[in-house]
Amino acid sequence: MPEKNALRRKGAKPVTTTETLDVQPTPLALLLLGREADAKSERGVECPGELPAPSDPDLVERARAARARLGERVFVLGHHYQRDEVIEFADVTGDSFKLARDAAARPQAEYIVFCGVHFMAESADILTTADQQVILPDLAAGCSMADMATAEQVAECWDVLTEAGIADVTVPVSYMNSSADIKAFTGRHGGTICTSSNAKRALEWAFSQGQKVLFLPDQHLGRNTAVREMGFSLDDCIVYNPHKPGGGVTAEQLRAAKMILWRGHCSVHGRFSLDSVEDVRSRIPGVNVLVHPECKHEVVSAADYVGSTELIIKTLDAAPAGSAWAIGTELNLVRRLAKAHPDKQIVFLDRTVCFCSTMNRIDLPHLVWALESLADGTVVNRIQVDKETEHYAKAALEQMLALP
Ligand code: 13P
Ligand code: SF4
Repeated sequence: MPEKNALRRKGAKPVTTTETLDVQPTPLALLLLGREADAKSERGVECPGELPAPSDPDLVERARAARARLGERVFVLGHHYQRDEVIEFADVTGDSFKLARDAAARPQAEYIVFCGVHFMAESADILTTADQQVILPDLAAGCSMADMATAEQVAECWDVLTEAGIADVTVPVSYMNSSADIKAFTGRHGGTICTSSNAKRALEWAFSQGQKVLFLPDQHLGRNTAVREMGFSLDDCIVYNPHKPGGGVTAEQLRAAKMILWRGHCSVHGRFSLDSVEDVRSRIPGVNVLVHPECKHEVVSAADYVGSTELIIKTLDAAPAGSAWAIGTELNLVRRLAKAHPDKQIVFLDRTVCFCSTMNRIDLPHLVWALESLADGTVVNRIQVDKETEHYAKAALEQMLALP
């Protein structure tokens, strides 16, 4: 019987504990992508030649049958970072902004099955009617960025801003990638939600309402939008660290700043570095580097184009045949784009594989389980936001939908 992987062949011990991994335990349950593999790198997982279908063919048939039994009663949303086997069953695909609108525009569907992550399903629940039920096929599909800002931490931050005498002139702008609690905080304090597609418009609106912005929870999207698109300088931005007393900044620094950035980031986009940009430029002369605004400022500054997932897709659709592209976003999407455009050279910006592990929690078995349960009359994994949170979070989401 062939051995499982090259590491085993070379006699390396299987990796089983955090001690041998040299990885510090985190408060969140981060799942390793592979067992008995080099946990620091997932290189070498490509298989030459044609792979068999990703899923059991029975499972595909079961998904089709359950969908057919449910008919118009179910509406399946698929974020662009979902696996191919899941996207195949999505009624619509999109980035978080488009999916929020699509969910709101489907009042006739009894069930919204959200193939994405927890904060997206919460937003769908907030924007849909009370009769509609939102289902997340795997409850472990969270988001490490959203988890970086808790309600308690943000309340404490607001106290710090109040003590510095600036809370009255500060407008919160929260990225869609945040919990319903953070969205409700934003609504309570007269702010708005934004996505990577409309961050500039959201910031322009916020600066018409106040003098400063508290941007949650992705420091990179906040900084990149303010500095690249709105003429602010890096010195206008300050980072509030919720793990330090007073955010690790002085009241004077807070008073001087225009953009108060929460110290949060995306664990997927945060991996791209200036080195990966330089490396790909040396490997592929003339390559166009296109990255998501959740990447670090230095990466975005070195790129040729920057945009949300929807914009990345549109840019590649419009690109001429023969052009070469290095894309800095999640790998499921980049692989699909490369497949859809065989006339263009499309590569992943980093040499190391970079799936979003929580997006990948939604797989065909979970989708089939959710659809079959619904078809049998059992509602599973319902995501339901409580009434008060919903009220204020909705105000912030509606403010986003009303942005000029
Ligand atoms: P968009 O879908 O808004 O581009 O955001 C990317 C992302 O990280 C979603 O989790
Ligand atoms: Fe969260 Fe980043 Fe994954 Fe999006 S890609 S769900 S921001 S960890």
